[in-house]
Amino acid sequence: MKNQLTNTEISQMLGEEALGLERETSQKDTLLFLTPAAVAENCELAGFEAEAISYLQSMANRIATDSNLKRLAWHCHYLLCCSSSFSRYDVRNWTPLTNLLGEFAGSFFLLIALSSVPHIRAFHQSRNIPESIARDTYSDTSLWAEDYKTKHGAWGISLHILPWLFNHLSGELYRLGRLQFIQRPFRQKFRAFRNRLNRQVVVLAEEGTRYRSDGQIDGTGGEFDPENGWTSRFLIDSDRVVGTPIHPIGMALCREVNLPLKMWECILTPGQPILEIHIPAGSPMDFDACGDSLRQAIDFFPRYFPDRSFQGFCCTSWLLNTQYQDWLSPTSNIVRFQREFYLFPTFSNGQSGLARIFDSDDIQDLSKAPRDTSLRRAVLDGIQAGGYLRSGGALLFPEDLDWEKQVYRTHFDECRLVTGDD
Ligand SMILES: CC(C)(COP(=O)(O)OP(=O)(O)OC[C@H]1O[C@@H](n2cnc3c(N)ncnc32)[C@H](O)[C@@H]1OP(=O)(O)O)[C@@H](O)C(=O)NCCC(=O)NCCS
Repeated sequence: MKNQLTNTEISQMLGEEALGLERETSQKDTLLFLTPAAVAENCELAGFEAEAISYLQSMANRIATDSNLKRLAWHCHYLLCCSSSFSRYDVRNWTPLTNLLGEFAGSFFLLIALSSVPHIRAFHQSRNIPESIARDTYSDTSLWAEDYKTKHGAWGISLHILPWLFNHLSGELYRLGRLQFIQRPFRQKFRAFRNRLNRQVVVLAEEGTRYRSDGQIDGTGGEFDPENGWTSRFLIDSDRVVGTPIHPIGMALCREVNLPLKMWECILTPGQPILEIHIPAGSPMDFDACGDSLRQAIDFFPRYFPDRSFQGFCCTSWLLNTQYQDWLSPTSNIVRFQREFYLFPTFSNGQSGLARIFDSDDIQDLSKAPRDTSLRRAVLDGIQAGGYLRSGGALLFPEDLDWEKQVYRTHFDECRLVTGDD
C-alpha cells in the first residue's frame, strides 16, 4: 500500500478548496472520529456487527497514525460533515483511492461516513426523533457496508455510494419500518387528477412523450416503435383538461380523455413535494410490513417535520418492472407491492436491476450467472428469449392507502374517463 499523499494528490482528489480550508483551519492533533471509542459508538448506532467494528477500529488507527492519511480524512470529513458550501454530489469528482490504498480505500470512506453520526444524532435529538427510528435510519450505512463486503471482501463503502448515505446522514431520509422515505419534488412527466365525487384517480402524461404501442416509453430497453408509436398530448384551460391517460397497470393508453375541472381536481404536478420510497436491502420486503411503513410515514412527517409536506408517495425502481407480474409468482412480494400502486412507465435501458439481482456491478457472462432464485431464473430466461429489464414507477396518495385492496386497478374506469362522463 502506498501511503504517502502529496499536496497535489490531495488537491486532485478534493479540489483546491480543500487545501485552502486546511490553511484556514488549524490542524487537529487528534481526530475524535478515529478514536476506538468513537468508531465503536458510531458503528453500534448504525448496527454494525462486532467483527466489522474491530476491523474499522484497526483501519482508523492506521489512518490516525499516518499524518498524510489523517490530513486527508480530516478534509473529507470537513467537506462532507461541516462545510455548508460543499455539495455531497461533488464527491463524484473525487478520485477513488484504490490506486493508493487498495482494498483499504473502502474502509477509509466508510469511516468518513460514520464520522457524521454525532452530527446527525444532535439534529435528530433536536427534533425529538424516536431513538428506534434514528437507529433504523442509521442502519443504511451498515447495509451498504455489507454490500461492499460481499463484492470486495472487506468492510467499506464505494465512493459513489457516499452521496446516497448522506441522504440519511444529513437528516433527509428516514427508515420507518421496512421502507425508507425522503421528501423530494415529483420529477416525473405526469400529473394526477382526482374525481371530486367518486374519488377515482387518473394519471395523465405530460405533453410530448413518445410511447410505443405497448404503452412503454419509446426507446425503453433499446426498443423503438417507428410504425405504431405515438406522442402524448396534454392541454389544460380554465375548465377542462385533455390528455393521455396512464393505466394503473403501468402503461400509457393510446387515446385521449377530456376531464371537466369542475369534476376533477389536480392532485399532483411535476415539482410538487412527494415522499420518495426506497427499499433497503437486508430482508424480504414483507407485504404487511410495507403497508405498515406507509401508514407510519403518514404519521411521522407531519408530526416531526410539519415543514415537509407531501402530496403522495412515489417510487421508481427496477422492482417496479411490470414484466414481473408475468414472470414471478402472484405471491411474490415484488408482485404484490406493485399491485397496490398506480404504476406508470419510466424510461430505462435494458439492464434495470441486473446488479441488484446478481449482486455484481459487472456481470460479464449471463450464461454463468446463478439460477438459485425464481427471480434470477425468470430474468435469465427472459433475457435469453430476447427480452430486456426495464424499470417502472409507482404513485400512491394517502387518501387511497387501503393496503391489500389494490385500489387503483380495482377502481379504474376507463370507459367513463374516455367519454368524460361524470
Ligand atoms: C427488494 C427485495 C427486498 C425483494 O425481495 P423479496 O421480498 O424476497 O421479493 P419477492 O418475494 O418478490 O421475491 C421473489 C423471488 O425472487 C427472489 N429475489 C428477490 N429479490 C432478489 C434479488 N435481489 N436477487 C436475487 N433474488 C431475489 C426471492 O428470493 C424469491 O425467490 P424464490 O421464489 O426462489 O424464493 C430484494 O430484491 C432486495 O433486498 N433487493 C436489494 C434492495 C433493492 O434492490 N432495493 C430497491 C432499490 S431501487
